[in-house]
Amino acid sequence: MTFSPELAAAHRRRLAASLKPGDLLLLPAARQTVRNNDVHHRFRQDSDFYYLTAFPEPDALSLIKVTEEGLCLHLFVAPRDPSREVWDGKRAGIEGAIERYGADQAYDLTALDEKIPELLDGAERLIYAMENRSLVRRLNGWRKKVMAKVRQGASFPSVAVQLSSILSEQRLIKDADELELMERAAQISVAAHLAAMTAGVPGTTESELEGMIEARFRSAGAKRFAYPSIVASGANGCVLHYVDNDAAIEDGDTLLIDAGCEFAGYAADITVTWPANGRFTESQRRVYDAVFRVQLSVIDAVRPGATFKQLNALAYHLLVAEMQQLGLLDQSETVDALVEAKAYRPYYMHGIGHWLGMDVHDVGGYGKKMNRPFEPGMVLTVEPGIYISPDAEAAPEGLRGIAVRIEDDIVVTEGAPRILSHGLPRSSAAIEAYLAANR
Ligand code: GLY
Ligand code: MN
Ligand code: MN
Repeated sequence: MTFSPELAAAHRRRLAASLKPGDLLLLPAARQTVRNNDVHHRFRQDSDFYYLTAFPEPDALSLIKVTEEGLCLHLFVAPRDPSREVWDGKRAGIEGAIERYGADQAYDLTALDEKIPELLDGAERLIYAMENRSLVRRLNGWRKKVMAKVRQGASFPSVAVQLSSILSEQRLIKDADELELMERAAQISVAAHLAAMTAGVPGTTESELEGMIEARFRSAGAKRFAYPSIVASGANGCVLHYVDNDAAIEDGDTLLIDAGCEFAGYAADITVTWPANGRFTESQRRVYDAVFRVQLSVIDAVRPGATFKQLNALAYHLLVAEMQQLGLLDQSETVDALVEAKAYRPYYMHGIGHWLGMDVHDVGGYGKKMNRPFEPGMVLTVEPGIYISPDAEAAPEGLRGIAVRIEDDIVVTEGAPRILSHGLPRSSAAIEAYLAANR
C-alpha cells in the first residue's frame, strides 16, 4: 500500500461534493528550495497538491475546473528533458501526467501564462490559497490578461474562496486508505522506538539512537522523518524542542524520545520515555506513572462530540491533581483554583495534542476551532507531559531534572478510540519488563 494516483483520484471525487459547476481550483506544487549555491534541500511535495494529484515533482501546477460533466484535472508539468534528467532523475512529462497521474489535460510549464488565462475565463468561483504570495502575484498577471479581453466577452471569477476552507476540512477526515497509511507510519515508528530502547544503554549517545531510529525509518520504506527527532537524555527532556541530540547517555538518565516517520506522505508522532539502565528510580517512576494515568484518561475521552478544548481542560485538571500528589503544587489549594491560576505552567507548557495527517501539525484549525466536535476519521495526538527543570527551585529536589512525555496517535471512531501507535510497552512495569527481556 502506498500513496497512489488512484488514491488522489478518490480524493478528487470526494472534493467534487464540495464544489459546483463554475468553480476553478488553482493549486501549485512545492518549489525546490536552495540550501546554498546550487545545492537544494531535499524536496518534499506540498501536502495539498500531493493529496489531490499524487504528482511528486517540484514546480508543477494543478488546475481543477468543474463543469456540469464533473471535475477536469489540468496539470502543468516540466516536460521530458534528457539533459536535465541526467542530473535530477526521470520526469513524468506531459504524457506521464496523463497516463500515470490521471490528468485530463497536461501542458508544458512554459504554457502557463498562455493557458491559465484561457481556463480562468468564464469561471465563477476561484479557489486558491490566498496566503500564497507568489501564486497571488502570478494570479494578478493572469487576471490582467483575462481583463484585457473583457470587450470580447471574457470574464474573471468574481468570487474568491480560501482553499483551506474546503480542502483542509476534507483532509481532516481521513478515509480508510489514509488510515492504513497512517497506521503503517505509526508502526514503522514504533519498531524504531523499540530498537532504540533495546540499544540505548548508559554509555551510548543520543546521536547513536537518533541515527538508529532514522535508519529504521528509511529501511522500512519511510521517505523521511515527519519532524526533526528529539532524542533527549536526562534533563535535556525539559527542553521541549531539543534537537541537538549529541549528549552522552548516563546511568540513571531517562530517555525522552519524540520521533515519527513520514510514510507515503503521512506522519506519525510518537513520544516514549524510559530508563537507560532498565529501571526507573522511584522519583522517575512516580512522575512517569502520573503522566501515564493522565494519558490513559485523556485517550479514553477521545470520542465523537468531544473537543480539544475539553481534552485540554481534562488534562489540566488531572495533571494538576497529579502535581499536587508529587509535591509540585500546593495540596491545600483546590484543583479548580490551581487550574484557573495556570499553576501547572512551570511543569506543563504545551497543549494536549494536535491534528495529525500528512503534516505533523495537520490542517483542521486551531484557535477557535479547538471547539469543533470530534468526528470519526479525525486523527489527533494525545501527549501529556511533566517537565521539572533542574532549576525549578519550587520543586522537591529529588524531582528536579525529570522530564516525561507520553504521546500516541489516536483515531476518533464511532466507539472506542483507535490507537495507531499500538505495540509499545507503556506502563512503567511493561517498559522495565521489555528492557529486561530485550537487552
Ligand atoms: N513532535 C512534535 C509534537 O509532538 O508536536
Ligand atoms: Mn505531537
Ligand atoms: Mn511529538
